[in-house]
Amino acid sequence: MQVRKAVIPAAGVGVRFLPATKGQPKEMLPIIDKPTIQYIIEEAVDSGIEDVVIVTSRYKKAIEDYFDYSPGLELFLRRKGKLDLLEMVTSISQMVEIHYVRQKEPRGLGHAVYCARKFVGREPFAVLLGDDIVRSRVPCLQQLLEAYNELGGNILGVQEVPPEDVSKYGILDAVEIRPGVYRVRDLVEKPAPNEAPSRLAILGRYVLQPRIFDLLERTPPGAGGEIQLTDALRALCREEPIYGYVFKGRRYDVGDKLGYLKATVEFALDREDLAEDFRAYLRKLVGNAL
Ligand code: G1P
Repeated sequence: MQVRKAVIPAAGVGVRFLPATKGQPKEMLPIIDKPTIQYIIEEAVDSGIEDVVIVTSRYKKAIEDYFDYSPGLELFLRRKGKLDLLEMVTSISQMVEIHYVRQKEPRGLGHAVYCARKFVGREPFAVLLGDDIVRSRVPCLQQLLEAYNELGGNILGVQEVPPEDVSKYGILDAVEIRPGVYRVRDLVEKPAPNEAPSRLAILGRYVLQPRIFDLLERTPPGAGGEIQLTDALRALCREEPIYGYVFKGRRYDVGDKLGYLKATVEFALDREDLAEDFRAYLRKLVGNAL
């Protein structure tokens, strides 16, 4: 069955970006001039997704407003004759059908995904996490969907991470069945480096079967006292095949301050309107520092 729907959990508090996230959702922090959540939605749309549900919370109204029409702003831009900006602004509200569901209390990623069960129904669906932005030739989710169309089951987007980073991620215990594709035997959420079964980390992209909702319903709180998606996936891999797919592309953890800075610098070096001046500035800065 074709994957048409995507779930984007965006109810997290954004503790790592306080105080900026005290008054605005972390998903609205921009990489240069575009909120991080827009990169995620663009990836979903470019991968062929038709319906998106964003799991929000009480403090995330700015996200809904952002993807809505902005009558005042649009009128202003029209009057000023700034038609290119007008087109850009209106296109944001027309990108894709977006639905919203509230997670009423912060109970973890697994619970946030569970909140989307009625929207998804009994069909396979994608999950994209807002902290993980991937720059790639073929959109990351599209790569997973291509693997899904061939293999079926459930697909996790993975890459190898350095040993000191395994404790930040869901880590696979898996066997390679062909280059870049692993069959998952088990998983562990944020293991200590000496207990990690591999260095293959789940990096915020999933294609899942609806069976996960039944398992999430029974998943008790795990790491950090939260209902973990990884724990429900552990139960799922005993019933259905789960594959780890090594996607191609550079992935940034924009939920982390250093990752956010790296993304900002590298995206700027890729922008036609900024690259030349910014590169010259960086050269000078580095030259002065040496
Ligand atoms: C979540 C998941 C983890 C995954 C990670 C990817 O963790 O629980 O399995 O590897 O996202 O970014 P979080 O970053 O929300 O702590």
